[in-house]
Amino acid sequence: MRHTITLRVNDEVWPLDVAPSDVLLDVLRGRVGLTSPKAGCERGDCGACTVLLDQRTVRSCLILAVEVDGHEIVTVEGLGMDGLTALQERLVELSAFQCGYCAPGVILSATELLAEAPDPTREEVQEAIAGNLCRCTGYASIVDAVLAAARASTGAAAQEV
Ligand code: FES
Ligand code: FES
Repeated sequence: MRHTITLRVNDEVWPLDVAPSDVLLDVLRGRVGLTSPKAGCERGDCGACTVLLDQRTVRSCLILAVEVDGHEIVTVEGLGMDGLTALQERLVELSAFQCGYCAPGVILSATELLAEAPDPTREEVQEAIAGNLCRCTGYASIVDAVLAAARASTGAAAQEV
């Protein structure tokens, strides 16, 4: 039996007809047409499928679409609707990624961290992205970019006071 659910995805409302076994990752990619959530391990280990669910990171390969009926999802496509976010700009400047497969998940994990802890320590950044596996980099540039974005935004906030 199929179910009709409604998701708010990147500020757009999506009524969707789904099967009980449809996972959120497949619905976002196959039905909503978003390509940033990636299929990696599809068992909760790699973090490539990370999205924000009601502003908290989740692994969309582990969540049934019917479980999140009525909830809000944000993917990388929904960040910085007017251009790159400060974090994304720093990641680009520092060439923090190589293949980029892990990038959407890393960006959302770091975005969640910076929303909660605008001035994080290096260890806090490392911990925040620990669930996002990257096969290409040593993580150092990614961590540097997150810290640079934090410094830029807290510096800007300090100047406004
Ligand atoms: S694809 Fe979801 S955690 Fe790996
Ligand atoms: S840049 Fe290739 S997996 Fe991270």
